[in-house]
Amino acid sequence: MELAAFLTNLERLAVEAEQAFQTANDAVAVENARVQYVGARSGQMKSLQKEMGSLAALDRPAGGKKLNEVKQRIQSALDGAVARASTQPTAALGPKLDPTLPGRRIRLGHLHPITQTIEHLKQIMGRLGFGVAEGPEVEDTWHNFVALNIPEDHPARDPLDNFYLSVAEQTAIDNVGANARLLRSQTSTVQIRVMESTAPPIRIISLGRVYRPDEADATHFPMFHQMEGLWIDRHVTMAQLKSVLRMFATNYLGGDVSIRFRPSFFPFTEPSVEVDFLWNGNWIEFGGAGMVDPNVLSAVGYDSEQVTGFAFGLGVERLCMRRHGVLDIRDLYRNDLRFLQQF
Ligand code: PHE
Repeated sequence: MELAAFLTNLERLAVEAEQAFQTANDAVAVENARVQYVGARSGQMKSLQKEMGSLAALDRPAGGKKLNEVKQRIQSALDGAVARASTQPTAALGPKLDPTLPGRRIRLGHLHPITQTIEHLKQIMGRLGFGVAEGPEVEDTWHNFVALNIPEDHPARDPLDNFYLSVAEQTAIDNVGANARLLRSQTSTVQIRVMESTAPPIRIISLGRVYRPDEADATHFPMFHQMEGLWIDRHVTMAQLKSVLRMFATNYLGGDVSIRFRPSFFPFTEPSVEVDFLWNGNWIEFGGAGMVDPNVLSAVGYDSEQVTGFAFGLGVERLCMRRHGVLDIRDLYRNDLRFLQQF
């Protein structure tokens, strides 16, 4: 390019830009002009600067001098426009802001009481050395029943007591038999999943939803939460089970909680017990527990001569309700803000 043409183009740009910045009357207009003239990517200044390269070598000092001068003029026009715009309300941003109006309160939501309870239980059990494991809510019969020593003809597998999924599209699969899928009826499924994928020792809890087709009343709901616990190692004993549950209860319910085991039966523990806590003068049942049945250890490929363990399953809603004095489990799931906001 000829030097003369280059200088003319620069001068024209300077005049044009100065005018644009002078007439830009709010922050948005200033910003638009800035992008158009000195924008780093497609600003007009940028394209002229590139043309410096096409000047003859002898003409470059003169071209460069003018370029710098124009740059400075545009910059001071921009500075002036910014200073002016900052004292102007921005038309594009709507009516003038009245800073004397009272502010609008920002309402923060908060966690559901059961979510809060779950976090609390994880903290307490974490201090006792238990890690957290998770498992799916849609299960197969292996994890919900078979590996837990619940055979095909066991009443616990009754379709009336479980939410089996309909798998009509997979014609080869029967709905309650070996290949059936169901919403898990207990978190004991996670015991199996953890043992299948991990070598002993194991010390975990698992917290999550379980599903049973129960009529909803003050103490039942078709979906609720359990806290499963599993400790597998050499020489784990029933006495340790009792200590862990007592420490847990003292931590969660506070004070000097007593614990009572009543003989019971679960296919996956032997011996099995129901767990009661003495709290505020009443014995209250919180769940089941026991020593992991050797059949379960074998089902996951453990050597039941080498390791033993205990497991427990406690109702999370029941714990939460006791601690907070909630009398009806349905209150937790009505989504009534007057109730939920108290937590
Ligand atoms: N899974 C049992 C239930 O849902 C509770 C339990 C867990 C019992 C672990 C023993 C050991 O009732």
